[in-house]
Amino acid sequence: MPFRFSIPLLSAMLSTFCSFVAFRRATWDSTTILPSPPFALETPLMPLPSPIHNKNNTQPVTLIRYRQSGMPYFLREAMSQGNMLCRDVAEQQNKTRDTLPQPPSSPIQYSLQLECQKLFYQNSWGTGNVLQALYGLRLAARVLGNIEVRIRCKDAARTKSDLVVPWMAGTFVSRTGMETPSLPFLNETCLPFSNAPVHYLMDEIRYELRRMAIALVGVPYPTHPAADFVFVPEREQEMQVPMPETPLLPNIELDDVAIHFRCGDIVELQPHHAYGYARFSFVANYISSEARSIGIVTQPFQGQQQRRMDGTEHTRCPILIGAFQQYLQDRFPNATVQIRNSSNETVALSYARFIMANQSLAAGISTFVYFPFMATFGTGYLQKPLYVEESFEERVNSQFIEYSDLMNSVDMFRLWKETNGREQITKWFTNEES
Ligand SMILES: *[C@@H]1O[C@H](CO)[C@@H](O)[C@H](O)[C@H]1NC(C)=O
Ligand SMILES: *[C@@H]1O[C@H](CO)[C@@H](O)[C@H](O)[C@H]1NC(C)=O
Ligand SMILES: *[C@@H]1O[C@H](CO)[C@@H](O)[C@H](O)[C@H]1NC(C)=O
Ligand SMILES: *[C@@H]1O[C@H](CO)[C@@H](O)[C@H](O)[C@H]1NC(C)=O
Ligand SMILES: *[C@@H]1O[C@H](CO)[C@@H](O)[C@H](O)[C@H]1NC(C)=O
Ligand SMILES: *[C@@H]1O[C@H](CO)[C@@H](O)[C@H](O)[C@H]1NC(C)=O
Ligand SMILES: *[C@@H]1O[C@H](CO)[C@@H](O)[C@H](O)[C@H]1NC(C)=O
Repeated sequence: MPFRFSIPLLSAMLSTFCSFVAFRRATWDSTTILPSPPFALETPLMPLPSPIHNKNNTQPVTLIRYRQSGMPYFLREAMSQGNMLCRDVAEQQNKTRDTLPQPPSSPIQYSLQLECQKLFYQNSWGTGNVLQALYGLRLAARVLGNIEVRIRCKDAARTKSDLVVPWMAGTFVSRTGMETPSLPFLNETCLPFSNAPVHYLMDEIRYELRRMAIALVGVPYPTHPAADFVFVPEREQEMQVPMPETPLLPNIELDDVAIHFRCGDIVELQPHHAYGYARFSFVANYISSEARSIGIVTQPFQGQQQRRMDGTEHTRCPILIGAFQQYLQDRFPNATVQIRNSSNETVALSYARFIMANQSLAAGISTFVYFPFMATFGTGYLQKPLYVEESFEERVNSQFIEYSDLMNSVDMFRLWKETNGREQITKWFTNEES
C-alpha cells in the first residue's frame, strides 16, 4: 500500500529570498554539476528569479544543475543505476539513497537546462524513455519534499511543434500531500527508469500531454472529448510553454484509429533484441468496426525530422507499412487507411494523434507509446508497463493487452537477408494464425 506524505510547511520553504549555497563533490562529473558561483559566497542573499510561490524564507537553497552537455551521462545513469535526483540529493546530504532524510534538511532547487533539439537528435534514448526519466525526476522531488524542479528547454519556442519535452518543462514547486493523495515509497521511486512508478504523476502527465495535443492540433470537432478539457490556472503557471491562441499545426487530418508502427533504426539499420512486431491481424482485431479512418503513424521514410539513429535510407519500411495498409484496407473496406509519414509528422504530432484518436494501438511493444496511450482521450491498447499494477488500467483510458507471438527485430534482420526473405516476412505478418 502506498502511504501518504504530508509535505505541508516544507513546500513553502523555497522562496523569494534565499542564498545559494552551491557545492561540488569531488566525485561528480564537473560538466554536469555546476561549481559554486563565486559571487554567491560574497553576496549570500540572492533573489531567485520568478518564483511561483512567493513565500518568505531564510533557508539556504542548494542548486543542483545539469546542462545539456551533462544529459547523456544523466540519462545513462538514470536508465541503468536509478533516479538521478535521489542520487544527487543523497550525495549532497552526505547520505546514501537508502538513508536519505525525507525531506532534505535544506531546500534544493534541481534544475535541467536543456537544448531539447539536441537532446532529441543526439541521444540514443527515445522520447518515451526520456519522458520516463524526467517524470521520474519530478516524482522523486515530490516524494522527497522540499525540492523545486526546474526543467527548461532553452529552444522551446523553436521546437514546441516538433518535440514533446518542451510540453512537460516548467517550474514545479514541491506540493502538499493533499494535492498528491498517494505517493510511492522512496526506495521504489529511486529505481532505474523502467521500474520507477511514474504513474503516480499520471494526473499531471495526462494534463500536460492532452494540453500539448490541443495546443498542436486544436479540438478536432465540437463533440470530441477534448472540448471538455479544463485548463487549471495553477498548472498553467507551472508550465514553460504557454497555450497558444490558435493551434500550432492547423488543419491536420486526424484518424479515429491511430496505430504506431516503429520503422526506423530497428528495421533498417540496427536490430534490437528487445523490440518485436505483432502480426497485422493481432492489431486489427482491436479495431472497432465503426472506425471511419485509420492512420498508421510512423516516421517519414525520407529522413527529415529524424533522430540520427534512424538513418536516412529507408527501403524496408515502405514494404512493411505498405503491406500493413493494404491488409487494413482489405479488412476495413469502409474506412480510409492512411500512412502518416509526411515530412511534417513530428514526434509531438504523433503523440497528438494518439491522444486525439478514439483508439490507439501499436504494432509492437514500445515505450514510445506508454504515456500518450495512457493519456489519450480515447482508448489506448498497450502492454502493461512494468511499473504499474494491472488494476491501474481503471484509472487511465487504457486496456493492458498481452503481446504474444512477436517477430523479434533481430529475427527480422536475419530473415530479410535470406532468399525470399521479403516474401517470408510479409507472409508472416499477413498470416492470421498465431
Ligand atoms: C516577506 O517578508 C517581508 C518583510 O518581513 C514582508 O513585508 C512581506 O509581506 C513578506 N512576504 C510574504 C509573501 O510573506
Ligand atoms: C557533507 O560533508 C562535507 C565534507 O565533509 C561537509 O562540508 C558538508 O557540510 C556536509 N553536508 C551536509 C549537508 O552535512
Ligand atoms: C520499499 O520499502 C518498503 C517499506 O520499507 C518495503 O515494504 C518495500 O518492499 C520496499 N520496496 C523495494 C522495491 O525494495
Ligand atoms: C470508439 O472506440 C470504442 C472502443 O473504445 C468503440 O466501441 C467505438 O465503436 C469507437 N468509435 C469509432 C467511431 O471508432
Ligand atoms: C510515405 O509512404 C508512402 C507509401 O509507402 C511512400 O510512397 C512515400 O514516399 C512516403 N513519404 C515519405 C515522406 O516518406
Ligand atoms: C460497409 O458499409 C456498408 C454500408 O453501410 C455495410 O453494409 C457493410 O456491412 C460495411 N462493411 C463492413 C466490413 O463493415
Ligand atoms: C506540410 O506542412 C506545410 C505547412 O503547414 C503544408 O503546406 C504542406 O501541405 C504539408 N505537407 C504535407 C505532406 O502534409
